[in-house]
Amino acid sequence: MRHLMSPLDFSVEELDTLLDLAQDIEAHPDKYAHACDGKKLATLFYEPSTRTRLSHEAAMLNLGGSIMGFSSADSSSAAKGESVSDTIRTISCYADICAMRHPKEGAPMVACQHSSIPVINAGDGGHQHPTQTLTDLLTIRNLKGRLNNLTIGLCGDLKFGRTVHSLIHALVRYTGIRFVLISPEELRLPDYIRQDVLDKQEIPYREVVRLEDALPELDILYMTRVQKERFFNEEDYVRMKDFYILDKKKMQLAPEDMYVMHPLPRVNEISVEVDEDPRAAYFRQVQYGVYVRMALILTLLDIHVD
Ligand code: NCD
Repeated sequence: MRHLMSPLDFSVEELDTLLDLAQDIEAHPDKYAHACDGKKLATLFYEPSTRTRLSHEAAMLNLGGSIMGFSSADSSSAAKGESVSDTIRTISCYADICAMRHPKEGAPMVACQHSSIPVINAGDGGHQHPTQTLTDLLTIRNLKGRLNNLTIGLCGDLKFGRTVHSLIHALVRYTGIRFVLISPEELRLPDYIRQDVLDKQEIPYREVVRLEDALPELDILYMTRVQKERFFNEEDYVRMKDFYILDKKKMQLAPEDMYVMHPLPRVNEISVEVDEDPRAAYFRQVQYGVYVRMALILTLLDIHVD
């Protein structure tokens, strides 16, 4: 049985196959409409979510399956003190596959050790968010036609942003990837990723504070929200929250074929006036998130459609 804890759980070849499947699903949705008839997905969300929970649910519904779950710790027995391992033993009796989001790093990993159904990590604290990474890879591949030879700008909260952490891990496996890390000093990428992943594998990158300094050289700009819920005090958050605001004027500095991505939710970091720019790709990214999660559910359940 397979789980998805990190994007590295799939080899590059397996990822290619998964992204091809997602693309086939996009082209021929009818072919897959009953692939999961009779199967159930449980979504166990101990932290707020809109896209990740609902896109897993939409994915299972599109495949003909059904869904169940809870969307906050308060509405589950976690509020009574139940452990993640007891909860997953229980859910294993009800569902065929589950997606779990938890504020504690490693909680989905604990779950998969006690589970008899595949567990998908739907975000664990500031650690990883592998299904967002699958979404991001599919989006980049569709927009740019490739996953190699790209300069990717990662902007915003690189310290706490789990989507950025997962995306870096996944992208360094392709050739010719270069990063521009755009963040305030206090929200720099943690050492355990900068040194242990980028430096160790000799991945070229530079760190800048000003977004304007990076824009002209980028193929992709990946914006992120300052992760309010991971700050220890409100004051620091307030000081940081509007550090970057991408607007029309800044977009003039970017190449014609540079796309803007964002895992969403956005707060102020992308002005709504950018939405009408053809390079704004964040809502297309949301749509790709459904196809890729359909492909993921089929893969983890080992269901093949001819
Ligand atoms: C992200 C997350 O939860 O990490 N959202 C998402 O799943 N698309 C990004 C964020 O919350 O800023």
